[in-house]
Amino acid sequence: MDMENLRLSCLSCKNCPLHETRTNVVFGVGNPSSSVMLIGEGPGANEDLQGEPFVGRAGLLLDDMLKIIDLDRHKNVYITNIVKCRPPKNRDPLNTEQDACMGWLRQQYLIIKPKIVVCLGRIAAMALIKPSFKITAEHGQVFDKDGVKFFAIYHPAALLRDQSKMPDTFVDLKNLQTLIREVAPETYENM
Ligand code: URA
Repeated sequence: MDMENLRLSCLSCKNCPLHETRTNVVFGVGNPSSSVMLIGEGPGANEDLQGEPFVGRAGLLLDDMLKIIDLDRHKNVYITNIVKCRPPKNRDPLNTEQDACMGWLRQQYLIIKPKIVVCLGRIAAMALIKPSFKITAEHGQVFDKDGVKFFAIYHPAALLRDQSKMPDTFVDLKNLQTLIREVAPETYENM
């Protein structure tokens, strides 16, 4: 199955109750041939309305952060979320919702075959790196899983709430850029 056909089947997903309150399924955006996958937690209000991940204030900041290290959502990364439908009132997605949705992410992962997975925030890192993940202590560290590098940074919405996390995030982004140059240099070719 290719990404477009996967997206089309995801649009009619009713695996969990979040389908009842969604406006749009927020499947993912970016280049399915890229080696770098970024994964957030779940759509917010703007994403639900527009059907694209990270298009609100946090998304604008994410685009700026990506630009610092020559990444672009339409060119050399693929961006998606742990859950594809908005949790009401922007609450954290429940474990049952994450489990119900994980099959879509697994299939996206199998199509992309990323070399680097960047978890955006605690929820994605707990789901994809380890349940005990502590974002304050473990952001910026590289976790190797069967040769794929997993890396977590603060969620852009957390950065909007607490600007004191910015300097650490800048360092993490520069380290991410070095990691990309080492293990996925094709990311920066033909830019
Ligand atoms: N926060 C997320 O984790 N994902 C989005 O798509 C938007 C905000």
